[in-house]
Amino acid sequence: MKILSIVGARPQFVKLAPIAHALAPGGHEHVIVHTGQHYDANMSDVFFEDLDIPAPNVHLGVGSGSHGVQTGAMLSAMDGVLDEHRPDWVLVYGDTNSTIAGALSAVKLHFPLAHLEAGLRSFNRRMPEEHNRVLTDHAADLCLAPTQTAIDHLIREGLGERAVLVGDVMTDVCLSVAAQVRDSAPLLPEGVDGSQDYLVSTIHRAENTDDPEQLRSIIDALAALPIPVVLLAHPRLVARAATAGIDLKRGALRPTAPLGYPQMVAAVLHSRGVVTDSGGLQKEAFLLGAPCTTLRTETEWTETVDLGWNVLRPQVDDLAAVVMRPRPAPSTASPYGDGRAAEATVATLMRHLR
Ligand code: UD1
Repeated sequence: MKILSIVGARPQFVKLAPIAHALAPGGHEHVIVHTGQHYDANMSDVFFEDLDIPAPNVHLGVGSGSHGVQTGAMLSAMDGVLDEHRPDWVLVYGDTNSTIAGALSAVKLHFPLAHLEAGLRSFNRRMPEEHNRVLTDHAADLCLAPTQTAIDHLIREGLGERAVLVGDVMTDVCLSVAAQVRDSAPLLPEGVDGSQDYLVSTIHRAENTDDPEQLRSIIDALAALPIPVVLLAHPRLVARAATAGIDLKRGALRPTAPLGYPQMVAAVLHSRGVVTDSGGLQKEAFLLGAPCTTLRTETEWTETVDLGWNVLRPQVDDLAAVVMRPRPAPSTASPYGDGRAAEATVATLMRHLR
């Protein structure tokens, strides 16, 4: 079987790792296409190195741009790549502009398309990720869903016959990396003592970073928290804060460059909790036993909220009380699978081979 994976943004490299590892033993051919959406070494290369992912076979080098420019550049570059490699499956991941560009390129050239992490919904039509995931699911021949909730969404949209529950590949990689780093001290920025309470925070979504007033109120609230906040600063946050004249280095805030995956897992494992607007990190916090506060009005990972490990807070007025809340009782539920979703994904792709 020949699979062509299209990735480009940081969370997709994490999801690619277990898929690349699960494809290797079966003698399958795996072509990796990197769109270049993320290009800084700490947003891209470190993931390939740390997670032992083979170097991309093709690099489109698209870089940043408005949604239309970025997506269009990927789409126009993909025709030649698909024509050359002629895969049995094009596999796209998650909900970024690289996902929708990859999906469109595959359906237009009639290559079978599988969408990994299908069926997630925020029902917030202002999020670019919501357009990307809905359109990709409706284009796909196979919707590989991480959770039963995702399957239910797909059924409701008339996609039940194409949907298969494979589990969540991020669980595979998160649990295996956690086992490797559990006993190592986290790499923390100056001014944070790993033996004392600290929080891990990431803020990068358009709805939180692009409006200077919203960004200012979030940064002010984080800076006023009673324990150090390790702020893993995405380039988008750094750029928007600089433009709006918002200082990220004050009060409780300890900004630092984005961490590699093992370092991020170690930092969360030893933390008092997480404050984020990331999708993936909400779930990683749950898997690693760190209470999460999500600075959004809704989440795609509703199980984390239902099980008491995640609290949604679009407004930050009472942030200190929320993030310092008592730890919930440990949960034995495993809504994100048992860490073997990549194997299930490969088996499903084989079973549905045309
Ligand atoms: C993208 C995804 C988002 C995902 C996130 C993970 C879309 C629509 N959004 O958002 O779903 O959660 O990736 O990080 O695809 N930049 C750099 N260096 C880089 C990459 C980006 O400096 O390596 C800066 C540029 O100023 C760029 C901005 O970050 O314009 C935004 O990058 P972009 O890829 O457009 O979206 P993300 O915010 O990273």
